[in-house]
Formats: sequence, C-alpha cells, structure tokens
Amino acid sequence: MSDQIRIVEMGPRDGLQNEKTPVSVEARIAFVEALVAAGLNTVEVGAFVSPKAIPQMASSDQVLRGVGHIKDAEFHVLVPNEKGYDAARAAGAKVVSVFAAASEGFSRANINCSIAESIERFKPVLARAKADGVKVRGYISCVLGCPFDGEIKPKAVADLAMTLWDLGCYEISLGDTIGVGTPLKAREMLRAVGAELPVANLAMHFHDTYGQALANLYAGMEEGVRVIDAAAGGLGGCPYAPGATGNVATEDVVYMLEGMGVKTGVDMDRLLTTTNEVAGLLGRPPVSRVASALNAKRKRLGAS
Ligand code: HMG
Ligand code: MG
Repeated sequence: MSDQIRIVEMGPRDGLQNEKTPVSVEARIAFVEALVAAGLNTVEVGAFVSPKAIPQMASSDQVLRGVGHIKDAEFHVLVPNEKGYDAARAAGAKVVSVFAAASEGFSRANINCSIAESIERFKPVLARAKADGVKVRGYISCVLGCPFDGEIKPKAVADLAMTLWDLGCYEISLGDTIGVGTPLKAREMLRAVGAELPVANLAMHFHDTYGQALANLYAGMEEGVRVIDAAAGGLGGCPYAPGATGNVATEDVVYMLEGMGVKTGVDMDRLLTTTNEVAGLLGRPPVSRVASALNAKRKRLGAS
C-alpha cells in the first residue's frame, strides 16, 4: 500500500462553505497560497453556485483569479450547471467539478432537482468542457447514507458513478457526506463501484462526523483507491446535510500516510501553521486530533 497517494485539499471550498464567520476574499486567497506552500498542490478553491444558497462561496471568481499566479498547482471549483460553468471559465477555471447525489432526498435538498435532472444539467457542461479542454471531476454525495433517505445501496452508487464516467468525468469522488460509514460498508461500496470503472479513477471524500473517516480511508486504500479528499483542520460540511461535520482533516491523513511510509510531499509544520491561522479567523481551535496533539507539543517546546 506504500505507493503514491494524491490528496485533494478541500479547505477553501467544503471547509469554508458552512462557516458562519465571513472570510474575506483576501483571506481565502492567502489560505490557498499557504496550502500550496505546504505542499498541497491540488486545491478546491471555490464554488460557482447560487450566492443565495451558499453565501460563503460568493466571489469565488475573485478567489480563482487571485490564485492564478500560483504555478505547479491545480485548482478545482464546483459548478452545478452551465451558468456556473460560464462564470468559472470566465475566471479561468481549468478543472471543474459537477456534483450529484446517490439519493433523491439529498439531490433535491442540495441542488433542487432529481438525480436524473441533475444529469441533464451536467450533460452540456461536460460537452462544453470537452470542447474547451477543461477537466471535469464528478462527485457523488451520500454514498454511505443519506440524512433524508437513510441507507443507500452500493449498486445505486455504482450506477451513478458509471453514468458520470460515461459522460466524461475523469475522476469520481465518492462522498460520505454525513460521515456515517464504517470500514466494511465503505469497502463494499468501493468494490461495487470498482467493479464498474477503474479504481485508479476513484477518490474518497469522507466526512468525519462519527470519527470513522481514517478507518474508512484505510479500507479504501486496501481496495486500491489512491485519491483522498481532505480539509485542513477538519473544516467542512454541507448546509444541506443536517448533522454532518467536517471533512477528514488533512493533517490526520498526512500523519497516517507518512506513518505508513507513504510520501505525501506535505510539510506538516507549515500545514499546522496554516490550519491554526484559519482557525484563528474562524475563532475556534482546529478539531483534528493531530492538530491538537501537535499544538500541545509546540506549546511544551515553547514554539508559537
Ligand atoms: P435552482 O433554484 O434550481 O436554479 O438552484 P435556477 O436555475 O432555478 O435558479 C435560481 C436562482 O439561482 C436564479 O437567481 C439563478 O440565476 C441562480 P435569482 O433569479 O433567484 O436571483 N443561479 C445561480 N447563481 C450563481 N451560480 C449558478 C447559478 N445557477 C442558478 N451556477 C442551484 C439550483 C444548483 C443553482 C442551487 O440549488 C444551488 O446553488 N445550490 C447550492 C448547492 C451547493 O453548493 N451545495 C454545497 C456543495 S455540494 C457538497 O458540499 C457535497 C460535496 O462536498 C461532496 C460530499 O460531501 O458529499 C461536494
Ligand atoms: Mg463534502
């Protein structure tokens, strides 16, 4: 299992999209810059969604433009429809992500349409992206449970993954949106999806509500999945997913991987400083175990 793992950093998008404290465009840009400087070179920086639905992601165009000077990094943004695609492209997006759900209840709550309607909205986005040379990532939410519809069958996830793959998504990110999954269920779901499309093109996007995310990631790595979505400080959550907490923390993932001999290229010290800075902006300490442990260690050693 000790080959390369790619981390897709979610902090500036999933991480901030549900925060009550407003974070300025300048601070969002500085957050992205610091993440890249810490070695996280794939970062989701914003979302071109309705500002009425997610006011925290307003001005994502300014954030995307503001990080345009950074080389050797790939920036992702969410787009729910052609309107979002237009705006993202105008701001220079080279990678966009469409987002669907494995459950009708969450699809309706999150993007105000059925699963089938969401696919119809994505079709022109995928077609235009292909013509424009833009890469499209596809998310599926609620792969291990839905706050409205309850249990989700692995086959429903696999079928939707296949649909997004056939439309041209280069990678399918499987979201345990409310963090209810446990390792054997995660494995069953990943095996079902992996039976339909290449495991190399799957990503795991696990929220850590019940503290299971690292165990679920490990189960997924045993199945051969090599892409992990994570957010600095364990930030994150979707306003349309009641009860959900943040993404698995990037520092927790990095600690686990490096302990397993997997080189992540992430500078833990810089990541911790960045995590603390954002936590300072939000007015509370980071929730992750590794950040808490390393901050306590810094304190013992008298470092700031
Ligand atoms: P709708 O109401 O069905 O869309 O919303 P509409 O086409 O009828 O338009 C309604 C209004 O939204 C209009 O404005 C449009 O112009 C505007 P109004 O006339 O009322 O002033 N609008 C837009 N504005 C900006 N950008 C756009 C856009 N499209 C329409 N692209 C829509 C559909 C998807 C837009 C809406 O429901 C929405 O924005 N939802 C937000 C969804 C969201 O961002 N959720 C969080 C991210 S997903 C997530 O966190 C899960 C994930 O992390 C994986 C996991 O954890 O599972 C990815
Ligand atoms: Mg999420």
